[in-house]
Amino acid sequence: MHIYRSSLLRFADDGRAMYDEDGLLATAPGDDGRERVVAAGGWQALSPQLLGQAGGEAVVHHLPGRIIAPGFVDLHIHYPQTDVIGAPAPGLLPWLENYTFPHESRFHDRAYADGVADFFMDELLRNGVTTALAFATSHPASVDAIMTAAQQRRMRMIAGKVLQDRNSPDGVRDDTEQSLVDTETLIQRWHGTDRLGYAITPRFAPTSTPAQLRGAGELAARYSDVWIQSHVAENLDEVAWVKELFPAARSYLAVYDDFGLMRERAVYAHSIWLDETDRQLMHRTKAAAAVSPTSNLFLASGYFDYLKADEAQMLYGLASDVGGGMSFSPFRTMQAAYVVGRESHAKEGQSLSPQHLWWQHTAGAARALGLQGVIGNLQPGCEADFVVINPRATPLLARKAEQARNLDELLFGMVILGDDRLIEQTHIAQQV
Ligand code: GUN
Ligand code: ZN
Repeated sequence: MHIYRSSLLRFADDGRAMYDEDGLLATAPGDDGRERVVAAGGWQALSPQLLGQAGGEAVVHHLPGRIIAPGFVDLHIHYPQTDVIGAPAPGLLPWLENYTFPHESRFHDRAYADGVADFFMDELLRNGVTTALAFATSHPASVDAIMTAAQQRRMRMIAGKVLQDRNSPDGVRDDTEQSLVDTETLIQRWHGTDRLGYAITPRFAPTSTPAQLRGAGELAARYSDVWIQSHVAENLDEVAWVKELFPAARSYLAVYDDFGLMRERAVYAHSIWLDETDRQLMHRTKAAAAVSPTSNLFLASGYFDYLKADEAQMLYGLASDVGGGMSFSPFRTMQAAYVVGRESHAKEGQSLSPQHLWWQHTAGAARALGLQGVIGNLQPGCEADFVVINPRATPLLARKAEQARNLDELLFGMVILGDDRLIEQTHIAQQV
């Protein structure tokens, strides 16, 4: 058993933060050998019994001045766009055409994909991200590369081969039938292997034929615990294009519903330009939105409407959307979400609380994936993926931390000023 003594941040079932200034986190291997949380709470309350019970077997780690918090969950990211960050474009569609598609065409080469996947995984860890729902490219080898890189690091990673059989240039466009055969092969190879999961990944409605979307929906029905990931209603030009391509559909989101792609474990990035019926569809089907604020600001796509999402009781969580997004750091994403939240909460004159922002990037994102109680939290039973945060990592952060009078002020300082410098250590559950 490992026993950590530090401040401890975790979340109650209703999303509220729980914080122990002098906290204790105990972990031990479960029946399957995977390290899990066995106790979490206050040091004074828990340590006598735990230390007595574990005797000399316990390894105690004392981390004064540090905060242990759940590893961050990135609900939407593109590993092949690691090197596309910061590519300027007037909007989504020219950005895809001029930067993203040409770059992604390089991932047919397994050695190239391996190099980027290794860098990507290390960058996630450096930023405290322990799980991501990731796009690969349309090349099956790009999935093998990211799965292998995650497996080597024992990470819980979910990824999939992009499906795009039309309106895509040579080099990334795939073949309808072969793409579905490849998807099934990859599901069988990777889904449930160690901590890995597969996501059926139609890029977005404009780049898939109805036949490809139908095939994706059939696979989603056949493999019901596999994830689905795509993009929806990110940009107004994109929305208009979908209307031309699918004139019979009630809305952009309804295209996915028409092909059986709305269900639990389906995650739709952006979800900005939805109407009330769309939001009800999200709620009813338990599909989730991946809110990607740094990407939406970078590409001038629009603002996710938090107020309406809450009214409709939609599931959502935070995502970097690198390389449309501007940073791998969950702190940068939470900062941007705070700013975006001002837009939808304008009437109330304020935005989202730091506790809620943090939840959206941990326990909330895990819930959106159907992985509540598994990752994104540090309650007993959760897998032991966590970060060690130094809240005084920079001179200015140290001043903020000293002056914080309560948990909200402490978390707010980190949300607004934070970046990778806050992450002192990222711990991935051990396997024995
Ligand atoms: N829509 C279709 N493909 C993409 C992508 O790669 N990034 C973003 N942000 N939106 C998309
Ligand atoms: Zn994306």
